[in-house]
Amino acid sequence: MVVASIKTVNPEKVLILGANGMLGHALQGVFPEAVLRGHELDITDEEAVYACIADLVPDVVINAAAYTDVDGCEDHVGIASAVNGEGPGYIARACRDAGAVFVHYSTDYIFDGSREEYVESDLPNPVNAYGRSKLLGEQRIIREMKNYRIIRTSWLFGRYGRNFVDTIRDLSTRMDQVKVVHDQFGKPTYTVDLAEKTADLISCESGIYHITNDGSCSWYEFAQAFIGNAVPCSSAEFPRKAVRPRFSVLSNTKTTPLRHWREALSDYLQGDT
Ligand SMILES: NC(=O)c1ccc[n+]([C@@H]2O[C@H](COP(=O)([O-])OP(=O)(O)OC[C@H]3O[C@@H](n4cnc5c(N)ncnc54)[C@H](OP(=O)(O)O)[C@@H]3O)[C@@H](O)[C@H]2O)c1
Repeated sequence: MVVASIKTVNPEKVLILGANGMLGHALQGVFPEAVLRGHELDITDEEAVYACIADLVPDVVINAAAYTDVDGCEDHVGIASAVNGEGPGYIARACRDAGAVFVHYSTDYIFDGSREEYVESDLPNPVNAYGRSKLLGEQRIIREMKNYRIIRTSWLFGRYGRNFVDTIRDLSTRMDQVKVVHDQFGKPTYTVDLAEKTADLISCESGIYHITNDGSCSWYEFAQAFIGNAVPCSSAEFPRKAVRPRFSVLSNTKTTPLRHWREALSDYLQGDT
């Protein structure tokens, strides 16, 4: 089903949830007249979510709220499941009743990493609690409504959030060498590019989309692009609480690709937005 283009959607009828997160901020730039809700609207509060959407009757709801601490999810499975799993289901139900398009973000970590690349129709098999909670969110949305855009993305960097680029740059100024894993592969994605593409997807068919910047790399190769003192190490040398998939390269087979991550990174580092 094709819905009205974003150009015909009243800009004041766009509601952004999780508006104060990293992606939420980039979305504010693309939808400057949108109604914004930060954490004060707790998406695990079913009644509050329903009341908000029933009251505003938006044309489009974009949910950038999530519990994104991948290691933290291992210790707080209940919170992860509530925020990343049940919450999106509550929003979906309210969107269905209000007649709104629902745009939601999921993750490369719903895949197990046993294949070098994943298309939209590949079978998810998450290997950590974060991935399981995000997959639950996808399932809840699909169960509740028809007019959704589930956008799986990966390795986000952008302003107003803790991200790999800022963390590694900071370490690089304080350490002689920064060890970075060379055996996990994905696609870095600039929040600004993802937010702009989100606007396009509103006028596309309902369904699941893989949206990342173009080009894949290891975390080590990514770090090498912006610091001079990165040294490669294996995942075994750098144990984390949550297991990460070896490959989480999302292949976009449905829409035009975004620009290469190196170009997007260059804009980010120059501080153009
Ligand atoms: N970051 C990545 O590398 C990455 C990769 C793949 C997919 N994604 C997905 O992309 C989306 C955006 O990620 P992001 O990096 O922008 O996340 P983020 O910076 O962590 O922002 C998430 C926002 O959600 C809010 N939030 C948390 N729990 C909430 C609740 N119960 N109710 C309402 N708001 C709540 C947070 O508020 P507080 O700060 O106050 O808790 C924060 O403002 C998420 O769906 C994420 O799963 C991210």
